[in-house]
Amino acid sequence: MLRDLIGVIGPGQSGRIRAHLLAVVCHAVAQGVVFILLVPLLQALLSGEPERALLWLVPLAVAAVVTGVAYFVQALLGFRTAVAATGALYRRLGDHLGDLPLGWFASVKLGSLTRLATAGVGEVTVVFAHLLGPLVTAVVTPMTVLIGMVVFDWRLAVAMLATVPMLVLAYRRSTRTIAETDADVDAAVGRSNDQIIEFAQRQPVLRAFPGGRERAALLEKTIEAQHEAGRRQLRRNSLARGLFGAAVQLAVTFVLAVGAFLAVAGTADVAQLIAVAVLVVRFAEPVMAMGDLGGSLRTVRARLDQVREILDVDPLPEPSAPRRPQGNGIEFSDVRFQYEGAAGPQLDGVDLELPPNGVTALVGPSGSGKTTMTRLVARFWDVDSGAVRIGGVDVRDLSADDRAALVAPVFQNVYLFDGTIEDNVRLGKPDATAEELAWAARLARMDEILGRLPDGWATRVGEGGAALSGGERQRVSLARAILKDAPVMVLDEATAALDAVNEAAVTETVRALAGRRTVLVIAHQLATVMNADRIVVLQDGRVRESGTHAELMALDGLYFQFWEERDRVRNWRLRSAQR
Ligand SMILES: Nc1ncnc2c1ncn2[C@@H]1O[C@H](COP(=O)(O)OP(=O)(O)OP(=O)(O)O)[C@@H](O)[C@H]1O
Ligand SMILES: [Mg+2]
Repeated sequence: MLRDLIGVIGPGQSGRIRAHLLAVVCHAVAQGVVFILLVPLLQALLSGEPERALLWLVPLAVAAVVTGVAYFVQALLGFRTAVAATGALYRRLGDHLGDLPLGWFASVKLGSLTRLATAGVGEVTVVFAHLLGPLVTAVVTPMTVLIGMVVFDWRLAVAMLATVPMLVLAYRRSTRTIAETDADVDAAVGRSNDQIIEFAQRQPVLRAFPGGRERAALLEKTIEAQHEAGRRQLRRNSLARGLFGAAVQLAVTFVLAVGAFLAVAGTADVAQLIAVAVLVVRFAEPVMAMGDLGGSLRTVRARLDQVREILDVDPLPEPSAPRRPQGNGIEFSDVRFQYEGAAGPQLDGVDLELPPNGVTALVGPSGSGKTTMTRLVARFWDVDSGAVRIGGVDVRDLSADDRAALVAPVFQNVYLFDGTIEDNVRLGKPDATAEELAWAARLARMDEILGRLPDGWATRVGEGGAALSGGERQRVSLARAILKDAPVMVLDEATAALDAVNEAAVTETVRALAGRRTVLVIAHQLATVMNADRIVVLQDGRVRESGTHAELMALDGLYFQFWEERDRVRNWRLRSAQR
């Protein structure tokens, strides 16, 4: 396990860990020597030879001092190692999370990740502060005593050795039980954590729909299950600990009985027996301690596995020799992509070239893969086959910094950070001047919002932007993308929540911006789409039609049907309103 631990924490700490381990072993051996020296000392005292006892007192005192010093050193090293290892593990996890494909975060349960990233790391590194010492002592001290025993009375040593298999068996059995119940509790806690977070975040939906009551009942059931798992853990773990305790007592009794038998038979003296009795009881102490440590050790193991599971997720491979993009064209060439666990491919051989410094509009029915295409441009995931290129370079060959600098996205689900409007817009360009901010705000039609809100730029948006309306959120995120001034702009339904006047204005802005940028717009509104340099119709993960508005209307295909259908619905609505 220690090797796993070093593997997870990183090789940087292995020297420190080795030093700690050495101190721990020194302490355990010294303690064993102290125990064993009690035998000749007591023997000498009890058989009325105080001078000989004095003689034994010297090595005993030395061993005791060594034990004390070693204890202090190992405790100090243990805490230092724990602190260093905690830091190292946090850094490693943080770095790793930073390199994971963005898509991974969509699949992970927030509750479990939060728990691991906060308490979990501490639960792993506590090994060094509180577990390694007692554990090594529990094994090495009795072993030292056993070896020493051979010198004083080999028969008692054999008796001690004979109890080892029973102890090992009992230990295994009890830790297995504890491990099972602990794992149950852990899973139950994880489940209720996830559900509580979901329950809190989804309140608006839950309150508005009749199914909400069922979700609440489900949550209650999960929490009840967690309690039940906790109760079961208490019951079964006490039993398991009791079992191991009983085994240790049995072993002690057995060794004492053998000693008594030898004394009665006259082959061992009483003084020796008393000395051995003291020894055996002390021998039992660290072994007993091991029973309690088993559970903690299991927790560590479980956490370690969880940490490893995250560390094992492959980060997006970064290119060893990144290439610089030439120009700002975007190109999809025979791109195939399927989400993990999806039934069929979401993109099924997409070939598409977006003219540099032009507006390309992507239209198509819901679920046809439009958003997926934008995600592949931003490299949320890697394509299964084919390639997405920006400026002629495969996005997989771009450095992470270049990739981030190239694309300014406005995603379909706008997310704002809990801060002021200015914080959120500035994210696009942290060192932007006041003029630049004003420029971006004007182009995104945000100035109207700023004038209306009493605190203007300093208005707080709330978690996720909850204090703003959908259209306001969209314009803040648009301003952020405009301010970034990147060569590629991707707008996924960026105007869907805007009224007609604002939508027209933003569409105008997008056109103007396109002079220096390649723009990819996804929209369901004709007004936004119509004037694009190129319109691409996507259906079932394939490009079905592509051309200008006039060309596609003349084609009398999918695009034509799409708008005709829409017109028909609109006319029908108008007519029914007039009636
Ligand atoms: N994270 C995901 N995991 C699995 N499947 C997904 C995931 N995201 C989207 N999908 C599926 O991929 C398909 C394409 O989704 P995508 O979001 O690209 O559609 P879209 O064209 O943007 O639709 P809309 O117009 O509704 O936004 C859908 O069938 C969807 O269910
Ligand atoms: Mg979409």
